[in-house]
Amino acid sequence: MWSDPLGFLSTELESLKQQGLYRKLRVLEGEQKPKSTFDHRQVVNLSSNNYLGLTTHPLLRERALEATRALGVGSGSVRSIAGTMDIHMELERRLAAFKQTEAVVVFQSGFAANAGTVAAVLSKDDVVISDELNHASIIDGCRLSRAAIKVFPHKDAAAARTIVSQLPAAQRKLLITDGVFSMDGDLGALPALCDIAEEFGCIMMVDDAHASGVFGRNGRGTIDHFGMYGRVDIQVGTLSKAIGALGGYVAGSRALIDFLYHRARPFLFSTSHPPAVAAACIAAVDVLEQEPQIIDRLWENTRFFKAGLQALGFNTGLSESPITPVIVGDGALAMKLSDRLFQEGVFAQGIAFPTVARNKARVRTIVTAGHARDELQFALDVFANVGKELGIL
Ligand SMILES: Cc1ncc(COP(=O)(O)O)c(C=O)c1O
Repeated sequence: MWSDPLGFLSTELESLKQQGLYRKLRVLEGEQKPKSTFDHRQVVNLSSNNYLGLTTHPLLRERALEATRALGVGSGSVRSIAGTMDIHMELERRLAAFKQTEAVVVFQSGFAANAGTVAAVLSKDDVVISDELNHASIIDGCRLSRAAIKVFPHKDAAAARTIVSQLPAAQRKLLITDGVFSMDGDLGALPALCDIAEEFGCIMMVDDAHASGVFGRNGRGTIDHFGMYGRVDIQVGTLSKAIGALGGYVAGSRALIDFLYHRARPFLFSTSHPPAVAAACIAAVDVLEQEPQIIDRLWENTRFFKAGLQALGFNTGLSESPITPVIVGDGALAMKLSDRLFQEGVFAQGIAFPTVARNKARVRTIVTAGHARDELQFALDVFANVGKELGIL
């Protein structure tokens, strides 16, 4: 008798629906803007990672179009065969100069950069010491590497030190943290972790996906913000968030980058960016260098909105960045809050287990440089009304 071998998937989905955790994809009609239309409704958009508004910046758009006209729509190959174009090398040179490292390799996404790098650098005899809230792409890279994984409580450098100090001196160790944590918006314990890495000879790695274009001079990231130049061996950045296009990169020594050219599987086995993406990313570096006032606007909006949520009495955790969570605890309540905000004209995504711990469900807000004050004030007013209606305030 025939039975559907994938039948268990429908059972799982039904269970998500019953728990109020089933998510329908919201569809953006038009451009990614501070005020956008999703699912036929105009909303103040507090859900994008488009921190600086570069997804629609005229210079990036123009350079992407020029590159498409001059070079076509695709690269035609993986980087290690025939898919390395001049423009890919130019982007890597520009990013290396920007990050003040010897070299940079660009990957198809930040996810590929993290997972591909950790899996390439470590093998089964090694150990990785990782913050419990590190991004999924780091966790997947650790699993792929087959190294032993030791997790320390969030930002607890003393606990990380205890773990490291008990490992054999000769064992290769990677100490790894997010620069900015994507669900809480707080910063990794960088200075203390760098001290531990130096004391015990660990490789130090930072995932600066949400810090790229946001923290440090001209958006150079947390290494610049904390003055950690020369102390972080592997820096990952993304080109998909503040940079406005798509991709990820690793910045470090020439030897690290050459090694990744030979061993990182997403680099070796997946086609490189279309020229338009590389051109847009180069233009974004120009914008970061020439228009740092955009980053100032991002921070002014961040301070205004975060203070507004806190004044209303919401639990915003320990955020230090433009990512501000509104933590409500229960997963179904977080989804209900997100739905009601959306009906009233504010898009802030609900996030529940397994993305965050079961009792820490939330809606996540992200302001951008382009939000007008009256849009942010409108969002705060809606948060106040809906928060009271649902008994959160
Ligand atoms: C902390 C962190 N690292 C890496 C990534 C992956 O970046 P990308 O979207 O470029 O794949 C993300 C994106 O969700 C992230 O939040």
